Amino acid sequence: MRQAKIIDGKAFAATAREGVARDVAALKDKYGITPGLAVVLVGEDPASEVYVRNKGKSTLETGMQSFEHRLPADIDQGDLLKLVDKLNRDPAVNGILVQLPLPDQIDENAVIQSINPAKDVDGFHLANVGLLSTGGDGLVPCTPLGCILMLKETLGSLSGRRAIVVGRSNIVGKPMANLLLKESCTVTIAHSRTKDLPGECRRADIVIAAVGRPEMVKGDWIRKGATVIDVGINRIPAPEKGEGKTRLVGDVAFDEAVQVAGAITPVPGGVGPMTIAMLLRNTVTATCRQAGIDPENL
Ligand code: GUN
Repeated sequence: MRQAKIIDGKAFAATAREGVARDVAALKDKYGITPGLAVVLVGEDPASEVYVRNKGKSTLETGMQSFEHRLPADIDQGDLLKLVDKLNRDPAVNGILVQLPLPDQIDENAVIQSINPAKDVDGFHLANVGLLSTGGDGLVPCTPLGCILMLKETLGSLSGRRAIVVGRSNIVGKPMANLLLKESCTVTIAHSRTKDLPGECRRADIVIAAVGRPEMVKGDWIRKGATVIDVGINRIPAPEKGEGKTRLVGDVAFDEAVQVAGAITPVPGGVGPMTIAMLLRNTVTATCRQAGIDPENL
């Protein structure tokens, strides 16, 4: 039985974090600058708590400063905007991330657009979205950035390859499509209304699955030898592990796809670990640009 190469996101993330740590050390030694990342968490969503803790830990491990702001779930939008404004003006803060989702009383978009685009390490601000879609140098959303890096490491040049992005979210699908276009891929964006989704996927050399539906992309949707990047993280019941137990699966039926694909990311251990590594990379990029330093010449 054929087995695809497994794209080891943990290993890529470890290498990326080492690179970040080297750059942070150089920024300190040569310029006396310690990059700082501020993370804002509103409320007590358990999944968000885990992300925020991991982000804080990784930030410190690479030698950067980590600032955590925890606010009550019933906070007033004005108070949150005041905090963002304070962080925008704080020279020790080079990157700002407001953990999503936010409680219902808060207009998520208003908060995102209030972040200084130069500190918007999520790449969600309209200025950064615009720069990405016009081929400029803004800050790029972390998950798609990690996917592109793994694709280039796995395939070399992506030029001329057919890519399909399944999912059209602002956080993953759309920026992913723009990044693939920048790499000169021929890009299809598929979604819930796409006709003959299996057929569309079968034409692609690169399949990015980012729909948030457990194991939706089947093995027979994958062209032989294609590269599959699975962005999904879905928790599903796993009665085989015992009553009430769960397990994580992606948006791709991995056991099927691994027999057809040329290379594939697992879940967990694929895209996930790269996302935090790219957040740290974006924080260094933001710091360099704010200080007028070329990150290539550290
Ligand atoms: N919640 C889940 N993932 C993310 C992310 O990448 N950025 C932000 N701000 N919130 C999230």
